[in-house]
Amino acid sequence: MTQDELKALVGQAALDFVPEGAIVGVGTGSTVNHFIDALAGVKERIVGAVSSSDASSARLRAHGIPVLEAQAVQRLPVYVDGADEIDGSGFMIKGGGAALTREKIVADLAERFVCIADQSKLVAVLGAFPLPVEVIPMAVAQLVRRFAALGGVATLREDMRTDNGLPILDMRRLSITDPLAMEAEVSQWPGVVTVGIFARHRASVCLLGTPQGVRRLDFAAT
Ligand code: 5RP
Repeated sequence: MTQDELKALVGQAALDFVPEGAIVGVGTGSTVNHFIDALAGVKERIVGAVSSSDASSARLRAHGIPVLEAQAVQRLPVYVDGADEIDGSGFMIKGGGAALTREKIVADLAERFVCIADQSKLVAVLGAFPLPVEVIPMAVAQLVRRFAALGGVATLREDMRTDNGLPILDMRRLSITDPLAMEAEVSQWPGVVTVGIFARHRASVCLLGTPQGVRRLDFAAT
């Protein structure tokens, strides 16, 4: 099976986690695009979606699925999103598609985070994928120095702005052995809007696409 077929498999499987009458939290990326397409097949059974990006909102609306403002919602039963890396504890790196800030906001509203990914995303230790960090422009030089002090190499993602109009620094050469501690540390540096470590908002469940079918990983609540 191709990587895209594995993504389609888990996009479809995630429908099992969507309760009747729900407002569904929807992430961003090529795997989530498959989930959105699958969701369209059951759209009469849901109230609508809260989306984590302009791209996902456009795709949801194109399918006739109502998109609600996050501000209008107090709680979501489920948030479905992809990941750039996920480890054996459900900790993730996200933001390869530049939607990390809104993704963390929508994840924070959700009772359950269902991560959907092809099997290549499962890693022993986070950090081979460059860690995205959405930042305030005037802080860039200082943040590059702070990451260098941790042994990382930060580069500005070229010619792009997030949906919030901000740049992204991609951090290479980090081995993230304590995701909770690193997320807490980097999050409080002045000028960091969002770091793409999802540790406090880790996955509750991961559906991994494999050639043998969907492999489900459950992560105990802390
Ligand atoms: C976007 C993300 C995506 O979930 C992540 O990049 C995975 O994308 P894909 O499903 O295309 O592999 O965090 O900001």
